[in-house]
Amino acid sequence: MSVDRTITVALSKGRILDETLPLLARAGIVPSEDPSRTRKLIIGTSRPDVNIVVVRATDVPTYVQYGAAAVGVAGKDVLMEHGGAGLYEPLDLGIARCRLMLAGRPNHAPGAERLRIATKFVNVTQRYFAAQGRQVEIIKLYGSMELAPLVGLSDYIVDLVDTGNTLKANGLAPIELIAQISSRLVVNKAAMKMQHTRIQQLIEALRPAAAPSP
Ligand code: ATP
Ligand code: PRP
Repeated sequence: MSVDRTITVALSKGRILDETLPLLARAGIVPSEDPSRTRKLIIGTSRPDVNIVVVRATDVPTYVQYGAAAVGVAGKDVLMEHGGAGLYEPLDLGIARCRLMLAGRPNHAPGAERLRIATKFVNVTQRYFAAQGRQVEIIKLYGSMELAPLVGLSDYIVDLVDTGNTLKANGLAPIELIAQISSRLVVNKAAMKMQHTRIQQLIEALRPAAAPSP
């Protein structure tokens, strides 16, 4: 846990970064260098007490859980998979909206054995099927989940769906909604106590940009 009075904000590379920067700018926080171009990993901002670190989407909860970043922005999918230990989730930012879905071939008739599900969301998938008392075999992938049912690796996939174009382009269809997804502001629980005033100010500054509670 850093003892200085700087707040470090962990952001995901990619689409969340693109959609978070305008929200931060409205809260008066503008990076001093373009985060998607610079090779620097810790980026200063227009506020001397706020730094940004840009990391992989799946790593954001880990940086915040351990207090290496006091605050972060992560997809609900990533937070569900991480489990949320050590984190508060005070704001739904309403960006990077999509759905976590079970999907597969429309006319697929699974065999008699246990259903095989390919996904990078192993924990969420495990919990989803366990809650329904359905026995499944989960196959961990790191990307391109849509390929798995096409080549016989799995019966179904659990993946993010926005427009549905990726499923459609591969002859797949959505089957069951698992969760509505958007990006959330997350705060380290200890930092929330130790730097309460400044973090609360940051939350309030971002609140006008946030989505109404679902
Ligand atoms: P990693 O680098 O850790 O593998 P990634 O490549 O999945 O992450 P992105 O594709 O930028 O990273 O996705 C980051 C987040 O954006 C996801 O966790 C999800 O919350 C959201 N997201 C992903 N795909 C979509 C989409 N098609 N439409 C809207 N939001 C999406
Ligand atoms: C995400 C997700 C799906 C796709 C869904 O992938 O993993 O493949 O978006 O969006 P759609 O329903 O609008 O087609 P992304 O584009 O982020 O690619 P990547 O995760 O493979 O980098």
